[in-house]
Amino acid sequence: MKDPWLPQPAVVIDKVMETADVATLALKLVDPVAHARFHFECGQFNMLYLYGLGEVPISIMDMQQGLVLHTIRAVGRISRKLVALEPGASLGLRGPFGNSWPIEQARGRDLVFITAGLGCAPVIAAIRRAIATRPAYRRLVIMQGVKHRDDLLWQEQYERWREVPDCQVLLSASEEKQAHFAWSLGMVTGLIEKAEFDVNNCTVMMCGPEPMIRASMRGLAEAGVGLENCYVSLERNMQCAIGLCGHCQMGTPFICREGPVFRVPDIQQWFLLEGY
Ligand SMILES: Cc1cc2nc3c(=O)[nH]c(=O)nc-3n(C[C@H](O)[C@H](O)[C@H](O)COP(=O)(O)OP(=O)(O)OC[C@H]3O[C@@H](n4cnc5c(N)ncnc54)[C@H](O)[C@@H]3O)c2cc1C
Ligand code: FES
Repeated sequence: MKDPWLPQPAVVIDKVMETADVATLALKLVDPVAHARFHFECGQFNMLYLYGLGEVPISIMDMQQGLVLHTIRAVGRISRKLVALEPGASLGLRGPFGNSWPIEQARGRDLVFITAGLGCAPVIAAIRRAIATRPAYRRLVIMQGVKHRDDLLWQEQYERWREVPDCQVLLSASEEKQAHFAWSLGMVTGLIEKAEFDVNNCTVMMCGPEPMIRASMRGLAEAGVGLENCYVSLERNMQCAIGLCGHCQMGTPFICREGPVFRVPDIQQWFLLEGY
């Protein structure tokens, strides 16, 4: 990244509507040298800029066939316009920013992923990387919660992950009424007691709504997992993304600079306080 303030021109090469309000955009930087150099670590994000509207932070879901993938939910002014972009459309991209999941440090351990809703997007690349380097890790446990079964993005991928040796995939739907053989009813946090992993040798990675993260922290502590082995990716309103404006501050840390991925004890004191 030559200048972290300057959005680089990018173009939408492909678009998949995942649900009625969630799209995955495949992006390419217009400058071929910048595009060839673009590299990300699992868990990092880009600032996506729409000319005349502004920019928002969006996690890098993955890179495939050289394209940068972002999965975006239309929630407000800018995200709605991003989801409405079609192939050929122009936008600006700054990034990648932020730190990454501790996927390398977790070698030799069980990996546990707990995500809800679109919280799966920032961990997909980490799960794929763990599976691609499978012998480096022990058990994999993937827990994902949604409201309705139809809300699950990438259903086929979750089914394929069930076939990976020593990989447990647990899915829950909080607003379904009828049980289904592959699904639990209720919140994703209810899955923790069904998960089979070594509480003394695991690394946990979590992303989702903050009440879900708090409930997961309680569930993991009750299961005997040391919170020093648990990591969370946090979201806050961002403007500069480089630790200058203070919009993303949570206590001492700036989420854009020290995060978005935090070891739970490093953020817990503010994360659990009302108003932060
Ligand atoms: C590091 C990081 C990674 C992110 N990754 C993704 C991603 O992969 N996919 C995705 O769809 N979204 C992601 N987000 C959230 C995304 O940035 C917000 O949805 C977006 O900024 C909303 O902007 P808007 O102009 O569309 O909505 P606005 O018009 O600004 O607001 C619409 C609604 O969204 C809420 N909102 C605004 N900003 C945020 C925010 N940062 N976090 C939570 N709620 C917010 C507002 O309270 C309001 O209710 C990420 C955020 C961060 C900080
Ligand atoms: S977004 Fe400006 S300090 Fe983090």
